[in-house]
Amino acid sequence: MDVIRIRGGKRLSGKIRISGAKNAALPILCATLLSEGESILRNVPALKDIETTSELLRVLGRRVALDAPVVRVGSSGEANPEAPYELVKQMRASIMVLGPLVARYGTARVSLPGGCQIGSRPVDQHLKGLEALGATIRLQGGYIHAECKRLRGAEVVFDMPTVTGTENLMMAAALAKGRTTLVNCAREPEVEELGRVLNKMGARVNGAGTDVIHIEGRDELDPFDHAIISDRIEAGTYMVAAAAAGGDVMIEGAPLEDLEAVVAKLRQAGVEVGREGECVRVRRDPDKPLKAVDVITAPHPGFPTDMQAQFMVLMCQARGTSRIVETIFENRFMHVPELRRMGCAIDVDGHTAHVHGGQPMSGAKVMATDLRASASLVIAGLTVTEGDTEVLRVYHLDRGYEFMERKLAALGADAERIKGQG
Ligand code: EPU
Repeated sequence: MDVIRIRGGKRLSGKIRISGAKNAALPILCATLLSEGESILRNVPALKDIETTSELLRVLGRRVALDAPVVRVGSSGEANPEAPYELVKQMRASIMVLGPLVARYGTARVSLPGGCQIGSRPVDQHLKGLEALGATIRLQGGYIHAECKRLRGAEVVFDMPTVTGTENLMMAAALAKGRTTLVNCAREPEVEELGRVLNKMGARVNGAGTDVIHIEGRDELDPFDHAIISDRIEAGTYMVAAAAAGGDVMIEGAPLEDLEAVVAKLRQAGVEVGREGECVRVRRDPDKPLKAVDVITAPHPGFPTDMQAQFMVLMCQARGTSRIVETIFENRFMHVPELRRMGCAIDVDGHTAHVHGGQPMSGAKVMATDLRASASLVIAGLTVTEGDTEVLRVYHLDRGYEFMERKLAALGADAERIKGQG
């Protein structure tokens, strides 16, 4: 396995471009199951999760030509409505084929995703929603079996806003007979993006991006050609990296309007963030101390859980103690023990981390068990002036960050990938 080695202490400067959004591309790839013809996705990032989803679509009987940033998905003639354990266990987002499969073929068997490193992550809301649309759901042998001759529009009220749950139901409802109303929906920009794609396919989706979504289903849907929005979490990660390491960085294609909560916290901490043409400029003088600010993760438009680990590293540089509360996932502080090994002083009490900033940090060998935690360790490595940092288990990073070490190197960081060392 590869390792990312970082020699920290370099100020970052220059310009990078943000890639297409992983969490927008994944549901849109699943939406290709809803129609027969060839759909084209553009601005798709070259990531492991995209490869896994492409593989899953092939198993389901689609023809996939993946040549990032373009993916073409068409029919191979033979449909197979079973998503096997071997693929679903690699990527929980595979659950998003359930809605499209049962809507299109009247039957689906999808391996039930287990828990994951960041929490138990049940899918009960997906299943209850599909039942409301008329599907019969049975769990057997670790698989979800869903059946229904034709889904029918209905009202679904989610117990909590769930991103992939909302997306699964939107896709199912797009081929259901009649009108579906989804209430208490996730309002993430990726949900809104899926709404745009379903509208291109001929469904009538209103309200995607708000907490109530109306969908008028169709008997058949058309293929689409669509360029994916930029990845707000990737952009936020580089904004925090620039702030933590210090410097002056231009981030091209960063969707500032989708990052308001992160930008507000960066500014409160003393980081300059502003728009300059097509770019977002992030500036921080590393000789000036940052202010400690508190963060509570929340569904969009609140502070994203996917930025919590990275922001915690920034707070390790701040003067004073900041309180970081994780409200979305029950076990998303896996980066804390690794950060402590680098010298950070962080106490965890349930869902709250108290970060005592300003402690001397040094490079170490570290590893994380999820994508965003791994990104936080890379950022930590950029900030230390003593010793090298080696981030192991890089496959987590490769699931969600396109060419991370290359983008950082383009900003002047001393970061490189060492093949087969982890
Ligand atoms: N939940 C349930 N039951 C359900 C569905 C969700 O209890 O049926 C709970 C979850 O356990 C969690 C909360 O609801 O406590 C919200 O989870 P959500 O369903 O919104 O998460 P997700 O759809 O599984 C997506 C992203 C995650 C991101 C979360 C939260 C994709 C493919 N994944 O997951 O992204 O953290 O929303 O914003 O869109 C990542 O990219 O690193 C990542 C983990």
